[in-house]
Amino acid sequence: MQLPKTAPRSVLLASLVVTPQLAAAFYLPGVAPISYKPQELVPLYVNTIKPTASPEDSLLHSVVSYDYYFASFGFCQPEGGPKDVGESLGSILFGDRIKTSPFELKMAVNETCKALPCTTKYNAKASKFVNDRIKEGYSLNWLVDKLPAGQEMVDGLTGTTFYSPGFLLGQEVEETKQVIFHNHYDIIIEYHEVGGNKDELRVVGARVRPDSKKYTGDITPQSCDEATEPVVLDENGETIVPFTYSVTWLKSNTAWATRWDKYLHVYDPKIHWFSLVNSAIIVVFLVLTVLSVLIRTLKKDIARYNRLDQINLDDLSGTSALEDGVQEDSGWKLVHGDVFRPPSHPLLLSIFLGNGAQLFVMTGFTIVFALLGFLSPSNRGSLGTIMVFLYTVLGFVGGYVSARAYKAMQGEKWKLNIVLTPFLVPGIVFATFFLLDLFLWAKHSSGAVPFTTMIVIVVIWFVISVPLSFAGSWLGFRAPQIEAPVRTNQIPRQIPPTTTYLRPIPSMLLVGILPFGAIFVELYFIMSSIWFSKIYYMFGFLFLCYCLMIITCAAVTVLMVYFLLCAENYHWQWRSFLAAGMTAGYIFLNAIIYWISKLSLGGLAGSVLYVGYSALISFLFFILTGSIGYFASWLFVRKIYSSIKID
Ligand SMILES: *[C@@H]1O[C@H](CO)[C@@H](O)[C@H](O)[C@H]1NC(C)=O
Repeated sequence: MQLPKTAPRSVLLASLVVTPQLAAAFYLPGVAPISYKPQELVPLYVNTIKPTASPEDSLLHSVVSYDYYFASFGFCQPEGGPKDVGESLGSILFGDRIKTSPFELKMAVNETCKALPCTTKYNAKASKFVNDRIKEGYSLNWLVDKLPAGQEMVDGLTGTTFYSPGFLLGQEVEETKQVIFHNHYDIIIEYHEVGGNKDELRVVGARVRPDSKKYTGDITPQSCDEATEPVVLDENGETIVPFTYSVTWLKSNTAWATRWDKYLHVYDPKIHWFSLVNSAIIVVFLVLTVLSVLIRTLKKDIARYNRLDQINLDDLSGTSALEDGVQEDSGWKLVHGDVFRPPSHPLLLSIFLGNGAQLFVMTGFTIVFALLGFLSPSNRGSLGTIMVFLYTVLGFVGGYVSARAYKAMQGEKWKLNIVLTPFLVPGIVFATFFLLDLFLWAKHSSGAVPFTTMIVIVVIWFVISVPLSFAGSWLGFRAPQIEAPVRTNQIPRQIPPTTTYLRPIPSMLLVGILPFGAIFVELYFIMSSIWFSKIYYMFGFLFLCYCLMIITCAAVTVLMVYFLLCAENYHWQWRSFLAAGMTAGYIFLNAIIYWISKLSLGGLAGSVLYVGYSALISFLFFILTGSIGYFASWLFVRKIYSSIKID
């Protein structure tokens, strides 16, 4: 079972290979190691209280997270109130709300049964609220020296131990249905002496074993052992609860650089590898077959068309051509006068294409950055930050591509194109995001993006993205028009009726499933990292899958366009976009199946949030894959029509 370890190590290795000398001296902001002297205070920060898979049925029962200091939980605040710990934009967008806490951890100083300087009185309503959250499997998320405090777990399959971030708020006893509230925390911290120096200690592991202890009388270091009864919050009266914690410091050989390895656990690595290799082989095989068949037929077609031309030229009557057994023109050559006819709704199509190009470049860069190890989980929120940053800056690409595409489609409302390119798709995304946020606000969830962050995003969008997009559009419209290789006839040709599988809906369903197949496996892991807050770091796999998806998307769409043109249907533009975009339809369907099989969201808000976010992500995928399909088809169509002679 070396497999789970290879992935994080290879990322580490890759980054070490890239920066062999720098590695020792240079760290990305926020990920430099901190050394502590014995007795020095090590900060313990608290993050949101998040739902995790319930231990009982391993389903997720909620998607709403709460601030650690949400009043009903009644957790103790530090002196002078909790303070926000500086966070990046990405980390806020991805739901982090990190705050200071009243816990005092002194480096390498063991403590037993220390009481927090407060007790909480839970009234009936608060008790009901907390008990409901316990039943839904909510977890506390703490950070010790930026390392998540985890629970030690054993993988039943491989027998390896690993730390899963977060620990339970409480638990429901199976037999008695009693709901126990955790009010004692055994904090176990591993530390490492740098080079055997007793004054340079680093935190390399953090675990919490929560417990429930009903105290009677004053709390002394012995109380923890004496208390045997658990705390149960009374839903019909008041319960007074004191909080305690013990700290155990253990010396460890783990070096600081590898301290994350224990957290990056791959569940079931065999299946992961197996299905990846499986889908890769199928996809590559399929694409190669498609391409070889296509290229061979095309070559034959082109040779035939050009031979036909030659014969027609040699013998103007053309009779010898028929005698030669060469049929008159058929297939895709017939539509040469229509194939570059501008599509209907060129404005919408060009806007989608511009935004698709923007997304394409953004995702590509993000995955490459991740692959180089810049977006490791220790650099909290870097993924979100880099995505927002890239998307903003790449507004330029969006504007440029949209403008050039619109010009090539002979669109006339160029002002509308310039304005709508940076507003339509981001507007839809932002509006949906805002609406979903309202639901979270209504639920008092910490997941709601704060108003100030919203303002920051809007400002970034208007000040950077929109002007850049305008600049791109301006350049795009100034660039010479992309000329079609063949002339377009005045009068459109009649399109003969098509066979079933070439009709819009069946062809979309057929084309969309293959790119989806390429990313299906990775999608599963991404979804569990989004909804079950597991750490995602397998960017190597992701990169492979992304490449496979692009190739499949392009190859299958090109094949469909070829069949379409052979059937003398020249409406390839929207058809290629929609067919490739159908990948997103499958992604949405997959999300719905995931919903049915892995989640059990009670209440309207949870369902609306889940479906809303899934739809939003699917919409972006629609734009992305649609554009990939369109551009591949566009290149293909240009290529084949410029290689035949037309008089
Ligand atoms: C803390 O307690 C643990 C367990 O009793 C022990 O192994 C460890 O050495 C102690 N650490 C320190 C710094 O005293």
